[in-house]
Parts: sequence; structure tokens; C-alpha cells
Amino acid sequence: YEHGLEDGESRMYAEMLEQPAAVERALRGRLDDRFGTAHLGGLNLDARELRAIRRVKMLGCGSAYYVGQMGAALVEELARIPADAEAASEFRYRDPVIEPDTLYVAVSQSGETIDTLLAVEEIRRKGGRVIGLVNVVGSAIARACDGGIYLHAGPEIAVASTKALTNMYVAFALLALQLGRVRDLSIADGKRLVNALQELPAKLEQVLKLEDEIAEIAADLAQCDSMFFVGRVRGYPVAREGAQKLKEISYRHAEAYQTSELKHGPLALISPEVPTVAIVPDDELTERNVAALHEIAARGGPLVVVTHDGVDLGALDVRRIDVPRLERELDPILLTIPLQLLAFHAAESLGLDIDKPRNLAKSVTVE
Ligand code: AGP
Repeated sequence: YEHGLEDGESRMYAEMLEQPAAVERALRGRLDDRFGTAHLGGLNLDARELRAIRRVKMLGCGSAYYVGQMGAALVEELARIPADAEAASEFRYRDPVIEPDTLYVAVSQSGETIDTLLAVEEIRRKGGRVIGLVNVVGSAIARACDGGIYLHAGPEIAVASTKALTNMYVAFALLALQLGRVRDLSIADGKRLVNALQELPAKLEQVLKLEDEIAEIAADLAQCDSMFFVGRVRGYPVAREGAQKLKEISYRHAEAYQTSELKHGPLALISPEVPTVAIVPDDELTERNVAALHEIAARGGPLVVVTHDGVDLGALDVRRIDVPRLERELDPILLTIPLQLLAFHAAESLGLDIDKPRNLAKSVTVE
């Protein structure tokens, strides 16, 4: 670890703090200021092949799947190529149609997750092209793919993944940028995103400084048996990842939902005992998100809102966590970091062994 592991310090904690440095490593030598693009030599795809891609599909398990969902949104927004994400553990079993002009992307920290590896093998057997977003160099998934982007997060030991997920997000941003710049993404937008990525490590430092206020909120949430994490569009995979992290290490029940779907059922569960962590970035959906917060508050549901400075939440009694602004497309990663801190401090306040959560392994190598 760059800053050294202090006596008794959890690995997850050290890995969270290492994220700004890990992102710098992921970006090193890959950004092009002049043309507002990224260079990813390991893809083994030239500009003509990149232009021929008609669809992009991300495959991963657990949190890697959720970051895949964030990555699909980036590719659609920046490159305007239809993209989606799917749980690799389900993919093979639904007998998927493998298309020759689809780029399949296998996402994995360990590179050894069996469900993801088997999905890669199935795609290749049927003639599809797969690239890997993998952290561990020379791992089974990295070897099975046609090319890829190494994450350079450094060794990740804690079962609850943090820095590897952040670097997956960065790798997706680089991929989306390179795909976008051989299509319709303008040089101005390309440069805007290159600059934003360069600023990302400093912004991550700023979010990590919110730790003390987040720790207080976390200790209160840890007292509740069940809670919701909600978000819309860009914010939804963030909510899924937040709920996942909390479940893994604090053993509290957390359910992620699309904010827009609350009124179609789960609102029935909202009560003073069931808090909601809401992702409300300053974007085209802010007003609608705030309206949903009012619905929750009207039913007595306590609210924690992860948002941007200046977002007007009306006269609501909420605990808010303001993350710094960057560019909208990159909001998800900065909104995710407070949720890592929230899960960590919830588990810590309960006195749990954060690095060895019950029933879980760092990488799942049997089906
Ligand atoms: C993340 O906190 C989890 N421990 C888990 O969901 C993990 O992301 C998943 O098992 C995939 O692992 P991989 O990235 O090594 O393939």
C-alpha cells in the first residue's frame, strides 16, 4: 500500500484511501490531451475495427456487474453505441445470441471468477470478440480474452472491493472515450473529459475527507435492520453498489431500487424504522429525485442524501453528503465513494471483522 498499512488498520480502509493513487496509475500514459482521447494499446483493435462495433455488452459478477452497468451508460453517452451489462453468472444459461459486431467486455478484479471466465469461453467458442477489464495480470480471464485493459489498482486483499471498482470505472471511461472519438464525440467533449479524468484523483481526495461526517451517519444507519438505496439512471448502479457493500460487511439488509419504481410497490415498506439512502446528483433528473424524497419523507422515512453542493432539497429534514462536482458523465464514481465509507463505518461501529466478512470469499472460483 502506498501509504503503508498501520497496525490493526483494515485492508479495506487502506484500499479506500489508496484510490486517488490507484486512479493515477490507471490513467498513466493513456490520456491524449491534444486530441481529447485515450490510447488503449491492449485492446488489439484498430480504428476501423473500433468503428465497426455496433453494440457493447459488459459481463461481470457482483460489484463488477454493477460497475459494468455504470460503464455501459458511459459508452452509450459518449460513443452513442447501444450498451448494457449483464450478470456473467446468468449469461451462459440463457443461451445468448452471440453477435459478431458486438464487443463483449469481461470485468473482473481477480480475473479468476469462474462465472465470468465461463462466459468468456462461451462467447469465444461462438466466435464473439471479448476484451477484459482485469486487475490481476496474467489471470485466467486476462489470458482467455482477445485483448483488454489492465486496471493497475495494485493488489486488492479486502473481500469488499473498492479501489479495483474505481479503476474499472476509469477503464470504462477510457474505453468510452476511445470509442467515442472514432465516432461522433467532438474534440471539445473529448478534451473536457480528458481534463475531468486528470482532475479525478484530487476530487477523490476531497470525497475521502468527508469521512468523519459519514462515520456519524453510518453509526446511526447500522442500528437499523433494513434500508433502501435508491437512484435513477446514472445513480441506479451507484445505489446497487452501495447496498451491496453495506450487506457484505455490516450484515444489514439493504435493497437497491430505482427511485422511479418506489411508488410501484416498495413505498409500502417505508416507515421511521426503514431509512433510505438516496443518490441525487445535480443533473437532468434532480427535480424528479427531490419529488421522490418528499414522498419518502411524507411516510416518515429517514433520509440520507448523497448529492452535490447547492442542490435544493426543499424543506426536508435529511442528512446530506455533498460530493464535489466534476463532469456529469463521471458523477457515478464520486457518488460511490461515500457509500464505501458508509458501509465501512457501519461495520466498524458494530465491531465486525471488516476484512473477513462471513460466508464470503475474495474470489469465487467454483460455480
Ligand atoms: C465486491 O465487494 C464483492 N466482493 C464481489 O461482488 C466481487 O465484486 C465479485 O465477486 C466479482 O469479483 P471479481 O471482480 O474478482 O471477478
